[in-house]
Amino acid sequence: MSRTYVVTGSASGIGATTADILRSRGERVIGIDLRDADVEADLSTPEGRTSAAARAVELAGGTIDAVIACAGISAPIAKTIAVNHFGVTGLLEALLPALRTSDAPRAAVVSSMASLQPNSPELVEAALADDEAKALEIAEGLAAQGPAVGYAIYPSSKRALSRWVRRTAISDAWAGSGIPLNAVAPGTVITPMTKDLLATPEGAKMVDAAVPMPLNHHQSPESIAYLLIWLTSVENTHLAGQVIYDDGGADATLRGDDIWSWNDPS
Ligand code: NAI
Repeated sequence: MSRTYVVTGSASGIGATTADILRSRGERVIGIDLRDADVEADLSTPEGRTSAAARAVELAGGTIDAVIACAGISAPIAKTIAVNHFGVTGLLEALLPALRTSDAPRAAVVSSMASLQPNSPELVEAALADDEAKALEIAEGLAAQGPAVGYAIYPSSKRALSRWVRRTAISDAWAGSGIPLNAVAPGTVITPMTKDLLATPEGAKMVDAAVPMPLNHHQSPESIAYLLIWLTSVENTHLAGQVIYDDGGADATLRGDDIWSWNDPS
C-alpha cells in the first residue's frame, strides 16, 4: 500500500529529487514550496506554516505517514533562521496530529554539516527557546554587520535544528507516539543552492576548504534523498534523534575519531 509523504522544498534540489523518487516508487507525495508545489506557502512565517499544514492535512485526507523537511535557504539574512529552524519545527509540530493517525509515522529533516561551523550561541539559544521574535532580532543584528558576520545565521540555524531534533525525538510527543525523528546533515550537494558558488574556482576552493569530502567529493541530491527515504520508511523502527552526517567524510575529517570522550572520567 502506498504511503502519504509531505515533502517541503519539493520544487528544487534535494526536496524535488526526494519527491520524484518517492513518486516513482508509487508513494503519494504532497509537496510544499513557495511555488510549483501542491501546497504553495511561505514557511518563513507562522501564518505560512499554519496554512501549509492545514492544506497538506486536507489534501492527505487526515493521515500523513511521513514528513521530509528539505526547504531551506543559505543567505546571510534574518529570514534564514525563520525558514531553516522555525519553518521546520513549526511545520512538524503542526503536522504531528496527522502523523499520529498513521500506522507507521516517520519524520526526517535536512540539517547540514554547517552545524559544525562557527555560529552564534545566542541565536541558537533563542531558536531552541522557540522565541522567534528574539531569534529574528539577533539574526537581523548579525545580518546588519555584513555577509561575513551574517553568514553565521546559516550554521546557527542548522546547529539549532540538529539540537532540536535530538531533544525532541526522545520526547513523549515523538518517541512516545512511536515516531522516529532524525536529521540528515549533507556535505556539499550540487543543487541550485550551491551551483553559483561552485561555478568559480575561487568559490569551489573556499567551499572545499570548509567542507572537506575525501569520499567521492561533491554529492548528488540523490545521495541525500535515498537516506531521507529510508529514515522515513517502515523499515526504520529504532533510529531516533540522530544527526546523520551523509557528507563524504567531512564530519569525520573535521571532528576526528573521538566524539565519545564527553562522559569519560577526567
Ligand atoms: P534548493 O535551493 O535547491 O531548494 C530549496 C527549496 O526550498 C527551494 O525549492 C525553495 O523554493 C524552498 N524554500 C526556500 N524558502 C522557502 C520558504 N520560505 N517556504 C517554502 N519553501 C521554501 O536547495 P537544496 O540544496 O536542495 O537544499 C535543501 C536543504 O538542504 C536546505 O535545508 C539546505 O540548507 C540543505 N543543505 C544543502 C546543502 C547543499 O550543498 N546544497 C548542504 C547542506 C544542507
